Amino acid sequence: MAVLMGGLSAEREVSLVSGRECAVALREAGYDVVEVDCGPDLALRLSDIKPDVCFNALHGRWGEDGCVQGLLEWMAIPYTHSGVLASALAMDKAKTKEVYAAAGLPVVNSVLATKEAVEAGHVLPPPYVVKPNNEGSSVGVYIVHPGSNAPRLASTMPAQVMVETYAPGRELTTTVMGDRALGVTDIITDGWYDYDAKYKPGGSRHECPANVPKDIADACLDYALRAHRALRCRGVSRTDFRWDESRGLAGLILLETNTQPGMTPTSLAPEQAAMQGMSFAQFCDWMVKDASC
Ligand code: DAL
Ligand code: MG
Repeated sequence: MAVLMGGLSAEREVSLVSGRECAVALREAGYDVVEVDCGPDLALRLSDIKPDVCFNALHGRWGEDGCVQGLLEWMAIPYTHSGVLASALAMDKAKTKEVYAAAGLPVVNSVLATKEAVEAGHVLPPPYVVKPNNEGSSVGVYIVHPGSNAPRLASTMPAQVMVETYAPGRELTTTVMGDRALGVTDIITDGWYDYDAKYKPGGSRHECPANVPKDIADACLDYALRAHRALRCRGVSRTDFRWDESRGLAGLILLETNTQPGMTPTSLAPEQAAMQGMSFAQFCDWMVKDASC
């Protein structure tokens, strides 16, 4: 089997960590594993290796947005996680929200705007969040507080960005594995769950199962499953929420669904699998058995 990792996106480093962890676990599970750092010659490399299956440990653009999935379909190589459509939909935050809304799932107000428009003045009343429409791991996220000026955006930001009303509250997340939701984690940070809080050891604390009322936990499990199905995800996905506890169930909104959830030592999906009694190797093995094209 080939474990696809690295790649070309802003989440390259995260993917290398995910990929190496998965490769170790899959060897433990008995597979013959080739680690593939994905570059523009990926099709040639795969023609050479001829794997029976690809374990997709890529994150972000090209690896999580349907591109690599399309290549693997074309080459008739079974692969883990979601297919072309779900990957493309879930990587586009605006399209994801349209699908959520059509499925009756709660979201906060947002608009797509050009970088120029965002820098020229407040596109929404502050507080709001500006983020790339198609990146992960909180790369390039700006929070604009009341009283501050419109943000200056880094040159690395894409031409079109999402501007979203700031949703206050706790950060909850639920992993879906096939037709079951595994649990709810409460992510506790000092500031907010940015790139460092996600990947530095001790950057955040994960309370799993989350200490939240039963109706909130049940809603997370239900919403994550419905999001997974509405986006037509396959295998494992992870849906992230914000919960403003002062508003009860009405304060729970979906932020996004990750079709290639992180598999690093500080990542959330493997922790939820462990809560269900699954080792990391068993979790990866399940994904391989679920692979198709
Ligand atoms: N985008 C990162 C890898 C995650 O969702 O876990
Ligand atoms: Mg994400």
